[in-house]
Amino acid sequence: MNLILLGGPGAGKGTQAKKLIDKYQIPQISTGDILRAAVKEGTPMGKKAKEFMDAGKLVPDEVVIGIIKDRLAQPDCKKGFILDGFPRTVPQAEALDKVLAGLGTKLDHVVSIDVPEEDLVTRLCGRRTCKNPDCGQMYHIKYTPPKKEGICDKCGSELYQRDDDNETTVRSRLATYNQATRPLIDYYRAKGLVRPIAGVGSIDNIFNKIVGILGN
Ligand code: AP5
Ligand code: MG
Repeated sequence: MNLILLGGPGAGKGTQAKKLIDKYQIPQISTGDILRAAVKEGTPMGKKAKEFMDAGKLVPDEVVIGIIKDRLAQPDCKKGFILDGFPRTVPQAEALDKVLAGLGTKLDHVVSIDVPEEDLVTRLCGRRTCKNPDCGQMYHIKYTPPKKEGICDKCGSELYQRDDDNETTVRSRLATYNQATRPLIDYYRAKGLVRPIAGVGSIDNIFNKIVGILGN
C-alpha cells in the first residue's frame, strides 16, 4: 500500500504514521525527520535547510525531491510506504508521480487529516519529541504526557522541544501550509485519491477511522 498523509503542521501525521507502521508493516518516510537528522549531523544540506525550517518556510523543492527519489528506491519501500510531509507543493507532487512511474508503481490513497488552526497551534506549542532518532515518539505536555516528565515511555531517552515548535514559527508554518500545500488536496481529488478524515478526537479514534478506509 502506497500512502500519503496530508495535513497541516501538527495535524497528527507523525503520530498516525507510527501506528500505521505497526499495523501495515510498511516504512514511514518523513522529509521533516530526514532534514532534522541532516541538521543534527551538520551536513551542508542540513545547514542550508535549517534556515528555512527555523523560519517556517519550505526547503527548496529540488532538495526534498532528491531525498525522496533516493529513499523510495530502497528495497524496504517495495511493499509500500507512508509519506509524511511530502509532497508539500504541486511541483513536488508532479515529481513524485514521475518517480513512482519510473519505479513501476503508483499511489493508492491520500489521507487528508483536517484539524482547526487554533488546535494546531496548541498541539505544536506543547509537543515534546523523543531525542532518539530510531524512536522519535511524540508527546504533548497536556494531551499525551509521558509517564515520567521529560523521558520517553517507549525507549527511555530524553524528550526535547523542536526548534520550530514556538508560536512565531508555528504561525509561519501554517501560512506556508495554506499557501503552498493545501492546493494538493485539489490536485489529488482530481485523481480520485483523497480520503478526508476529521483529525480531532482521540488518537485511537482517528487511527480506527483511517484503518476503516484503508482496510485490513
Ligand atoms: P515536518 O517535520 O514535516 O513538520 P510539519 O508538517 O510542520 O508537521 P509536524 O511534524 O509538526 O506535525 P505532525 O502532523 O507530524 O503532528 P504530530 O503527529 O507530531 O517539517 C518540518 C519542516 O521541514 C518544514 O517546516 C519545512 O521547513 C521542512 N520540510 C519538511 N518536508 C518538506 C518538504 N516536503 N518540502 C519542503 N520543506 C519540507 O502531532 C503534533 C502534536 O499533537 C503532538 O504533540 C501529538 O502528541 C499531538 N496530537 C496528535 N494527535 C492528537 C490528537 N488526536 N489529539 C490531541 N493531540 C494530538
Ligand atoms: Mg511530523
